[in-house]
Amino acid sequence: MKKTTLSQIAIAQLTLGASLVIAPMTSAQAQTVDIMMRAPQVMPEPNAVITAERTRASNLFKALTSVSIPIDDPRLKSMETYIKAGNIAAAEHVATDDPLFYNFRVANLAAKMSTRDESARAPLSDFVATFVGVVRDSDSTPATQLLTGNFYYRGDNAVITANGGTALPEAPMDLFSLKGTHYSQIASRNYSLKAVLKRVDGQQIVVNNAAVAHPDPAGLITSVAFVGAHAVAGTNRRMVEYSYREFMCTPIANWADGTSPDDRVGQDVDRMPGGSPNKFLTTCKNCHANMDGQRGAFGFLDYNDNQGIATFSTTVVQKMLRNADQYPQGFRMTNTSWINYANVGKNADQFGWRSPASGTGIGQFATMLSKSQGFSRCMVRRVFTDVCKRAPVATEESMVRSVADQFEASNYHMRNLFEMVVLRPECGIN
Ligand code: HEC
Repeated sequence: MKKTTLSQIAIAQLTLGASLVIAPMTSAQAQTVDIMMRAPQVMPEPNAVITAERTRASNLFKALTSVSIPIDDPRLKSMETYIKAGNIAAAEHVATDDPLFYNFRVANLAAKMSTRDESARAPLSDFVATFVGVVRDSDSTPATQLLTGNFYYRGDNAVITANGGTALPEAPMDLFSLKGTHYSQIASRNYSLKAVLKRVDGQQIVVNNAAVAHPDPAGLITSVAFVGAHAVAGTNRRMVEYSYREFMCTPIANWADGTSPDDRVGQDVDRMPGGSPNKFLTTCKNCHANMDGQRGAFGFLDYNDNQGIATFSTTVVQKMLRNADQYPQGFRMTNTSWINYANVGKNADQFGWRSPASGTGIGQFATMLSKSQGFSRCMVRRVFTDVCKRAPVATEESMVRSVADQFEASNYHMRNLFEMVVLRPECGIN
């Protein structure tokens, strides 16, 4: 038999076109995949009998991906076969393996967590891409790394160019600035997130137009999208407020506590609002004692709105020290230390802390959140709310907590969480 040389294979590839890209490849990443989202091409079968299992497959697929596909779609037939064989997990896997799951269900859930107005129509960003990537890579990536990971996801230009696309812009200002177009082009080109995203270890920020290692990485909390949403102007209190809102599912009013020590409340907060110390003690302190206690984590962080980039200092940034004359005896930040006072009473129960209540910097703050029961319960609530189309009600708290325990026992496997939640009787999908 005649031996085929490498160059003959290369020539064969050239003549067969870009769709047939096989070894030998220069990049280990490049592989033949469909990088585009496509409408299903289904031959209707008007006389086919729709079994109860096919209907169930259709309901599960819709709940998991948020997209309806024709009842004769081969994916539903395959799910039907698994359901008939009693293998519901395999049936669900068809849905959570589908590009629609990532581009719609997961991306929309992440989008709502990524901006201040919490709209599912928020643009594709490093936040959304990283969330979607972690769900796709659940087998190797526990969801705690959404908060602790020193990595981000981006479009894989090797995969894109090997499959007929043109490379996405990838200069530092394209990747790490909210003014860049790396992520928006992934969306506008209608790429499959499942196919094109790749994980890159080592978060980065832009300094003088060059990318440098992020000094204090903390998963999504240090994504440019999240920093741009919550560290723009202001006093970085929103970084704390929204970290709790998005990752602990707890709006500030629900973790405010007037009994917490106020020794960390900033100098800019009036202790005599309207001439009344009582007002400080009965209203302002409720939120500010807990929030300002943890604000130090973000002491070195700022956001440059002109350039759309996160910035990092080696000293406390000016906005943390502003209006100091309002109450000079108040707390003046000198470093990034923080104290978690939200660890007694109702807050101890709802957050279920399992790590030290004080630390330094964003990474340790995010680690504390990630290890808490509040975080795993929040992921359950978010998935339940989207998949089951309603938030869990108060009487379902024990369900939330027990699903969260199972989620933790699965090593925080996000994809598995979607599959678990949709089967809960409370979810009403059958
Ligand atoms: C319900 C919770 C809550 C209560 C009650 C509350 N605050 Fe705040 N406060 C916040 C949050 C959240 C922020 C950050 C807002 C932002 O940056 O968008 C903030 C920001 C501030 C700031 C900084 C504003 C800036 O950006 O320059 C001051 C000063 C302040 N609050 C004072 C007070 C005073 C005085 C009271 C009582 C009269 C009070 N707060 C009551 C939650 C609260």
